[in-house]
Formats: sequence, C-alpha cells, structure tokens
Amino acid sequence: MQSSFEKIVNKALGNDIIPKCSDTVFVCHQHILPSLYPLMNYICQYLCLPENVFLLGKPYSTIQTELSLLKSLGLNIGKNNADLVVGKYSDCIQSDIDQFWSKISKCKRVIECKKIIVLDEGGHLSCAVPDQLTHKTIAIEQTRFGTRKKNIKVPTVQVAVCAAKRFFESKEIIEGVWRRLLNDGKLKKETTFGVIGLGYLGSYLVKKLIQNGHKVIAYDIREKAALELDVKRATAVQQLVDVSQIIIGCTGYDSVPSNIRVSGNVEFISISSSDIEFSSLLLKYEANRKEIHELIKISTNSSKFVIANGGFPYNFDGKHEYEDESEIILTRLLMIVGIMQALSCEISGCIKIPLDASFQMKLTESWAKDISTAQHQLPGNVLWWKQNSVTL
Ligand SMILES: NC(=O)c1ccc[n+]([C@@H]2O[C@H](COP(=O)([O-])OP(=O)(O)OC[C@H]3O[C@@H](n4cnc5c(N)ncnc54)[C@H](O)[C@@H]3O)[C@@H](O)[C@H]2O)c1
Repeated sequence: MQSSFEKIVNKALGNDIIPKCSDTVFVCHQHILPSLYPLMNYICQYLCLPENVFLLGKPYSTIQTELSLLKSLGLNIGKNNADLVVGKYSDCIQSDIDQFWSKISKCKRVIECKKIIVLDEGGHLSCAVPDQLTHKTIAIEQTRFGTRKKNIKVPTVQVAVCAAKRFFESKEIIEGVWRRLLNDGKLKKETTFGVIGLGYLGSYLVKKLIQNGHKVIAYDIREKAALELDVKRATAVQQLVDVSQIIIGCTGYDSVPSNIRVSGNVEFISISSSDIEFSSLLLKYEANRKEIHELIKISTNSSKFVIANGGFPYNFDGKHEYEDESEIILTRLLMIVGIMQALSCEISGCIKIPLDASFQMKLTESWAKDISTAQHQLPGNVLWWKQNSVTL
C-alpha cells in the first residue's frame, strides 16, 4: 500500500517522468526523526537501491527507535562518535563528517556512480566533499544556517529559503516549540517573554504569544524587522534581558554577548539550529560541558540564569518530534523537489540554485489538500512561488 508521502509525490509528479537515477548515490546528514522515514523510504522505493544511500544523524536530535527503523530499510548508516561540548557543536561534529566522507569515498558504489546528491542540514557535508568527488556532487540544503556557510564546494539547491518553507513550515516549527513550552509548564501568564530575532520563526512566535495573552518584548538588530507586529520593542539585548523571565532566541546567530548582566532567575531557550544562539554564554560559563539535553544552571556573583536543553533547539530532545506529523512532513516533501532538480541538472560551478517554483507549488498544494490538517491559504500563481524562493 502506498504511504501518504508517496501518494502526494506521485500526484504532484503527474505524468512527469522521474529522471534516471539508478547510478546516483545519496549522502545525507539529517535529523533522525519520525518524519525522515517516509523520505528515505521513497528514495529507496523509487530512486535507488538502499545500498546507494549513506546517512549520518545529528547527535542532538537522533531518536534511537527511528534509527533502528531506518536501519531496517537497508541504508548505510554512519556513526556519531563526536565528543560533543556545548557551544562548540560545529567544531565537534566536523570529525564525524570527515570520517563519514573518508569511509564513503572508498566505496565502489561511490567511486563508480555518475552523480552524488547530498541531503544536507547545516552545510557540514557540503563543505567537506572530498576533492575527487566534487565534479559529480550536488547538494540540497535544508537550513538557513547551512546556506550561510562560505566554503561550500558544490552547487546547492536551496530548499532552506524556498517559499513553502518560509511561509508554511515556520508556523509548524513554532507550534512544535509551543507544545514543548506547554508540556514543560512554561506558559504562565505572569512570565514576560523576550524574543530575540523577528524573522520567520520569531514573528510567528511573537504573534502566538500575543494571541494567547502573554507579555512579550522583542528585539531584532534590524530596526525595521516585522514592523506589522504590535509588540513592545527593546533597543538592545540588555534591555530585553532586564525585563524578561524567559528569553527565546530565534536569530540563527550568537545573539547574547558573554558580558550581559542577568540579575533575576532568567531562562534562555534557543530555537535556532545547533547550539549557536547562546554560544558565547555557554563557552564563558560551561566550556567543557558535554550533556546536550540538560538544563544548564549558571550562578555567579553577579548573575543567575539557566540555559534550556544544553543551548540546542528546544524542540529537539532526542525523544520526540514535537511538530505535528501531517504538517512537518512538508519539510521532507520539499527535499523531493530538490532531488528532482538535482537529478535533472548538469553539475557545473559552485552555484546557488533556488528551489523549482512549479513543482514546489504542486507538491505544497497536494500536501495542503490531502495531508495537512491546518487551514492554509496557498497562492495559486507560480510567479509568487518563484519570487519567494530565493537564494542567500
Ligand atoms: N528549531 C527548528 O526546528 C528550526 C526549524 C527551521 C529553522 N530553524 C533555524 O532558526 C533560525 C531562524 O530562522 P528564521 O527562518 O526565523 O530566520 P530569519 O533569517 O528569517 O530571522 C532571523 C532574524 O534574526 C535577526 N538577527 C540576526 N542576528 C541578530 C542578533 N544578533 N540580534 C538580534 N536579532 C538578530 C535577523 O535580523 C532576522 O530578522 C535559523 O538558524 C534556522 O536555521 C530552526
């Protein structure tokens, strides 16, 4: 029986023929969560043999039962050996990535294949493609963090900044974060929430907090960010920290300087990728700490505060996928759009490629109609999808 993921993709493809791909190898660095299985299953059913798929998880998000399910598909799964230290995720994960590539590049299948498609989440794989493989490798990048990397060696389809992800996925991420806040009893009316970063995620979060009657103050380095939001603005992080009890960072950068003064019982929660958001604080106070899902308590002569989930995104705890399955599946469906593009495209130069607007629109329409349980207003004009699917 076809899964709903397969039905949506096949419906959106219509009579289009899947480009030839039996001599393609997939190299993936992905969050090992329930929503990954349908994507990997689709690749193994329709695109190539499971032996042609190489997958490495991310130690801060991997759910072990999901890893076992993926193993049962027959994929090649790499090992996460890195000794993680909070605040230094990118440096620590590099050795896993290097070992993964080193092992893969000796495989006959990889040496002899015509094309390598990298499914990346954070740009780590794309920056480390061995030189002898770059001529036949193309990457698909799923995160904004990854699109900012300077030393990417191969052409990249930028799913991270496509219209569907920016406008429809961001809401669901906030719903996931909200579920965890609710589970943890954090949504108290007397709490003032400080939101740093008013991009796609931050704006939805502020709207949701206001709609639910919470006190909110927000800060963005761009003074003009999300001007439509009717929210009190701080003019500096310090001002926000002075009046908030829970601070949620959604900038994707190291946003709180290590010399910040924290005078009350404040909790810092990141929803940005990896542990970048509060890395200065983590490195100043907890330079050698290894527990990645712990509540980090910091108490000094002048400051007392906690950092949730080891500074890693609050909606990744190694146990749950907090997002609703029917909504978050869009993220994985969009990778299929990128894969179809990567399969049919010639590899030349290290260019950034926007996600195809037409197939993206069809797939998102099928998802909204047949899977999503939420109400989505989808623009039916392909130009809108094109104009809003950018590169960074
Ligand atoms: N937790 C998850 O499941 C999840 C899912 C998707 C994306 N993300 C990550 O969340 C982060 C934010 O995503 P987005 O789509 O909202 O990005 P975005 O670029 O739309 O928004 C970021 C905002 O932060 C502001 N900003 C940057 N540096 C700042 C600083 N030092 N101080 C104050 N404001 C600053 C920017 O001006 C911008 O408005 C990214 O790192 C992304 O990869 C996480």
